[in-house]
Amino acid sequence: MAHVGRPFTDYKPPAAAPVWAVIEGLGRYHVLLAALELGVFESLNEAPADSGMTAGELARRLGLPELHTESLLDSVVALGLLDRVVDDFRLNDAARRYLLVDGAASMAGLIPVAPGPHENWTRLAATVRSGRPATPIDDDPAAFYVPLVEGTFTTMWRCAGRADFKMRYSALDAPRILDLGAGGAPWSIAMLEACAGGRATVNDLDGVIDVARRKTAEHGVDDRCEFRPGDFHTIPLEEGAYDIVVLGHICRTEGPDGARHLVERAYGALRPEGRVVMADYFVGPNHKTNPHAVLMGMTMMASTVNGFGVTTAEATGWLRDAGFEALRLIEPIGFQFAYVASKPRD
Ligand SMILES: C[S@@+](CC[C@H](N)C(=O)[O-])C[C@H]1O[C@@H](n2cnc3c(N)ncnc32)[C@H](O)[C@@H]1O
Repeated sequence: MAHVGRPFTDYKPPAAAPVWAVIEGLGRYHVLLAALELGVFESLNEAPADSGMTAGELARRLGLPELHTESLLDSVVALGLLDRVVDDFRLNDAARRYLLVDGAASMAGLIPVAPGPHENWTRLAATVRSGRPATPIDDDPAAFYVPLVEGTFTTMWRCAGRADFKMRYSALDAPRILDLGAGGAPWSIAMLEACAGGRATVNDLDGVIDVARRKTAEHGVDDRCEFRPGDFHTIPLEEGAYDIVVLGHICRTEGPDGARHLVERAYGALRPEGRVVMADYFVGPNHKTNPHAVLMGMTMMASTVNGFGVTTAEATGWLRDAGFEALRLIEPIGFQFAYVASKPRD
């Protein structure tokens, strides 16, 4: 080793593991996608209780070659998302919870769409060079957002339900809720389920808002919703009318000016003492401590015209500049964060 005067690298070179982890990232993702696409988890769920299936049994069931099936199954085991007991492959707790279509916290529908259009990742260097993705989701938002919001619904509805423990919206008698860019309306649904007298104004783009119509009907709260399709930057909003305004994962696609505008719209629409909920993946001051948020920001840059990660400093700055006070960051469920802030009393 050449001595370069840096004590650690002088005598012990750094491990290559982080580089290998990156190289394997692509394969890891596609192993999981293939297993989902082939119905591996759903099939293993049909194995008798306390047992699993051999690769041969699963291969015959799915009409696949046995060696290829075993190779795929072993790779899913290596990801920690299946167990292998001798020759038996079995669902583990993580697979049951997150990978079954009807799992308690299913992410099965989210996994294919969460990274955005896959081809945008192969053109990332060109996006950094030109400052714009070649095929941003902004060009055809409904095509991207319909499967996305269907895929995120379970997680976001759980998050919105648990948020009650932190913000006690259920204590409100008959709140008026405004849900901008509502997707499947997980926040409105959770709040309406907790507040029998509540009413919600549910906004999303034409073509996406039908997901909200369907989900609110499934949860029996559609009769207390007014659906207001259109661009959340320009749709008419009542001034000083709402108890809660939800900005659920809509700021990070808008860029700083667009996000600031949404926060200002929320402020204007709230009554005094009303509260805004801004849910997102916030990048903290040390980017190493929340790589999930940093990479979510990169996902935005890869596939949207204006999107970047939202830092805690930016988010709190937009909220304070708009006039909000009593800012709190809550984490209703793991990995899901939201700022809750109040409009001052008149
Ligand atoms: C990441 S999803 C979040 C959905 C939901 N709020 C949640 O928290 O689960 C972003 C949503 O914003 C909607 N959206 C994007 N741009 C919009 C715009 N200009 N006006 C209204 N909705 C928009 C999308 O259609 C999508 O449903």
